[in-house]
Amino acid sequence: MEYNQIKIAIPQAEEILFDLYNIQGTASVLPGEVDFNFRIKTSNSEGYILKISRPNEDDNYLDFQQQLLQHVEANGTQLIAPKVVKDKNKNATSTITDSFGNERKVRLLTWVSGRVWSSVNPQLDSLRFSLGTQCGLLTQALQGFTHAEAQRDFVWDVAQSLWTKEHIHVFPNEEKELISYFQEQFEAKKPTYDLLRKSVVHNDANDNNVIVSKELINPTVKAAIDYGDAIHTQIINDVAIGCAYAIMNHNDALDAALPLLKGYHSSFPLQEKELKHLYNAIAMRLVISVTKSAINKIEEPNNAYLLISEKPAWEVLKKWRVIHPDFAEYSFRTACGFSAHPNEIKFNEWASKNTFLLPELFSSINKEEVHSIDLSVSSNWIGHQQDFNNLDQFQFKIDQLQKEVPTKIIAGGYLEPRALYTSTAYDTIGNNGKESRSIHLGIDYWLPAYTPVHAILDGEVVIAINDAGDKEYGGLIVLKHQVEEFEFYTLYGHNTLKSISKHSVGDLILKGKKIAELGNYPENGNWAPHLHFQVLLSLFDYTIDYPGVAYLNQIDVWKSICPNPNLLFKSAALLENKSLTNDDIIRYRKQHLGKSLSLQYKTPIKMVRGAGQYLMDQFGHTYLDTVNNVAHVGHENYNVVKAGQDQMALINTNSRYLHENINELAKELIETLPPELNVLHFVNSGSEANELAIRMVKAVTGEKDMIASEVGYHGNANMCIDISSYKFDGKGGHGAPEHTQIFPLPDTFRGKHKGKNAAHKYAEEVQKCIENIQHKGRNVGGFIIEPIISCGGQIELPEGFLAQSYKLIRKAGGICISDEVQVGCGRLGKTFWGFQLHDVIPDIVTIGKPLGNGHPIAAVACTQKVADAFANGMEYFNTFGGNPVSCAIAAEVLRTVKRDRLQENALKIGTYLKSELNNLSTEFPILGDVRGQGLFLGIELVDSELNPLAKQTDYLANRMKDHGILMSTDGPDHNVLKIKPPIVFTKENAEELLLYLRKILNEDFMKLQS
Ligand SMILES: Cc1ncc(COP(=O)(O)O)c(C=O)c1O
Repeated sequence: MEYNQIKIAIPQAEEILFDLYNIQGTASVLPGEVDFNFRIKTSNSEGYILKISRPNEDDNYLDFQQQLLQHVEANGTQLIAPKVVKDKNKNATSTITDSFGNERKVRLLTWVSGRVWSSVNPQLDSLRFSLGTQCGLLTQALQGFTHAEAQRDFVWDVAQSLWTKEHIHVFPNEEKELISYFQEQFEAKKPTYDLLRKSVVHNDANDNNVIVSKELINPTVKAAIDYGDAIHTQIINDVAIGCAYAIMNHNDALDAALPLLKGYHSSFPLQEKELKHLYNAIAMRLVISVTKSAINKIEEPNNAYLLISEKPAWEVLKKWRVIHPDFAEYSFRTACGFSAHPNEIKFNEWASKNTFLLPELFSSINKEEVHSIDLSVSSNWIGHQQDFNNLDQFQFKIDQLQKEVPTKIIAGGYLEPRALYTSTAYDTIGNNGKESRSIHLGIDYWLPAYTPVHAILDGEVVIAINDAGDKEYGGLIVLKHQVEEFEFYTLYGHNTLKSISKHSVGDLILKGKKIAELGNYPENGNWAPHLHFQVLLSLFDYTIDYPGVAYLNQIDVWKSICPNPNLLFKSAALLENKSLTNDDIIRYRKQHLGKSLSLQYKTPIKMVRGAGQYLMDQFGHTYLDTVNNVAHVGHENYNVVKAGQDQMALINTNSRYLHENINELAKELIETLPPELNVLHFVNSGSEANELAIRMVKAVTGEKDMIASEVGYHGNANMCIDISSYKFDGKGGHGAPEHTQIFPLPDTFRGKHKGKNAAHKYAEEVQKCIENIQHKGRNVGGFIIEPIISCGGQIELPEGFLAQSYKLIRKAGGICISDEVQVGCGRLGKTFWGFQLHDVIPDIVTIGKPLGNGHPIAAVACTQKVADAFANGMEYFNTFGGNPVSCAIAAEVLRTVKRDRLQENALKIGTYLKSELNNLSTEFPILGDVRGQGLFLGIELVDSELNPLAKQTDYLANRMKDHGILMSTDGPDHNVLKIKPPIVFTKENAEELLLYLRKILNEDFMKLQS
């Protein structure tokens, strides 16, 4: 029958509703494969769903549906589920005749309010977990329910999915190959699959059948609706169906499946043997889906619903194909709390009964004990990454260490997150941004090149690579060992190619026989000589590049597949685990560190290493840093680190002794400043710089009164707090002190004065401040402002404001200070200092954060006139200010900016980023204003009435962090996202930032405009 002949129109549906149920409501069409479904809205209820069957629908089927719903209502007390509404004559199912004379069955169910899964963005782990939990509860409620119809033949039943084989011809070759692969996998395991537990299950938790709560942050699944596909089948199929849809549109499909599985298992415990079939069941559900789509395209081309999941289903199938089914099973086992590898427990037991001695592995080295070294990302033994990657230097360190511990073998590395794997070959894009394979799965034994390696057990050669094709390992050999009733493998990497070439796959090697010799650089895979020794419980299909390092998110699985090789040798030094958890650190901080110190992010991060524009936590997670303007020329810039280390090794003392470094730094700075600003004082922080600047103001003018901007911040010392409206007008503050005058934040976007004349208006505000001071019978001391107000929300000063204000201040006898603590040293791109953007020359410039690239050094530059007045006979002594180490560091920072043309980089990348952000703001009007200069940008989030959107801003920053991008918020209304990265930031970094901003701006919470 033609689709148009059986279709029910909206007015018809409304009429049927009234006739049968005496309910007046408005209908709208809902998608559906079998029934024609209508959402019914009424004035006095949550609403209903009206389901009108196709002609000649089977009575048994409808009875099954209604009984099932009633069973769920009675047994699933924790569940929300649609309820059956009876018609005027108390029938659960009614019958009507349509205009073509066909008999149609009608049912009315209560509406479950919420959002459908497919409309939810983002679909996070917590949401998939709750989907699993709900599906598990539903399966629990359905235990014991039977009905003849549940045994029907059904194309959507995974157990019956081999019908798809008959349609394989509809696909082109590539797709055919993909589908046949899964069909064969499924068929091969059918005998054990057929024996799995069965019950009636929902069987269709697809993304349009799952109702999610309305909260836009952390929503949960309320219910699975539409029981039309319920069937008596293997319970694991129900899990598989939930997974098949919930993992669509995620980069890492396997990773996306795990929370759902965890949730299901938490409410309906699954069995180990069921998990063996989950990989295939997920695949077969998708195979059914794409096969149905292909058939439907031919049979019912007008029904778009039937094609809805086709594209994402293919995408998942392709991703699924490259996952080893055993690895998937081990991941599923981990998610359900079983040991990932089924033989892990057996191996541990066997290893506990069998101890090997290291001289059995290295018979030419008569050492039994180990000295452990830490090559992890947190290790300070390895020092700077650049030194670590210098092979000669690293070898030297190993040799030196060996001299200190001559009777021990230097070893370590199991489960170490290693910072050295920085090649992009180790990166992938997971469900939350970039991930790196960085967790080391073996133990490295650091021994001289050509040290022989011996078999510690009889074994069969399963891999022998001797052509250096494997760059990572050099000469590699893997042996298979059969012990008791299981087998495992030992892997030996970084050997000479010659020693490996003696072996072929299939060779039997007896315990004690020499199997390899440690390779020397570069034959051994590009590192100092060592053996990478790894135990494997599964080889999977690897023939060459067996992973020696794993992704962090898979580590629970990999550490079971590759247990600690030290379980064999039991070296005491490798048994210790000294590391503190983040909770330990937080606990101590809370007890013993200042109570007003805060921590960034809801889940604080422990950063252990920096590299350029990146930071790494102790687990080896790498974050792109878009907020740290202190690490101006890049975190742990090698030359800067070296400059500090070298000088530290010679002398560090105070500035009362002669030293070139202080003069060198002064020269470097003076070169960047206008000739008028040619006297320097070195201090240790931005606060100290401003504190000194205020003392200078007092010395020059004899006045105490300062004028500063609303929401300005100038430091944590007493006088600095007194001029920081950001602090004294904020939490815990008591307003402006007697000697401080505050003018309104010169913000032309949402401030007091907007438009063309704003600069003048704000200058008038400064004049008012001057007059206020004069009315009190005093005179102006100084005026302080940042060229772009950072805590104020990256506010660019209106053009002309600074020049006009300086004029007014000077006319009143005051001194002008430019606080360049945030913006200075080339960050703004067009000019080296912020005040230069405004064509003014301050009397005093304070310089902080970027100058030491993380080392505490700051400076005050002033005119001769100011310096002379300050030098009134009282000595200015600063214990640390201007010490040779700090000066060596700061001079190198300035040289680096110059040498590496970083000011130009800030201009180029900043201009690109700002223009792309502006484009983004046309796409997402919530980004009300994009402002700033160079790599000092701000994005202000507002609604259509310019009201600040602090919650969205906070959400955006936190979600960016979830994707490995560090951002922070600022501004009086906390609605400005600030961007001020190390100025080595690249175009690729900017593109990555834009990519994830766009992704998150599309999330539901960002669309909420209030
Ligand atoms: C504009 C401005 N001035 C001064 C300071 C104080 O610098 P420090 O924290 O180094 O004392 C800061 C610090 O954030 C600042 O942003």
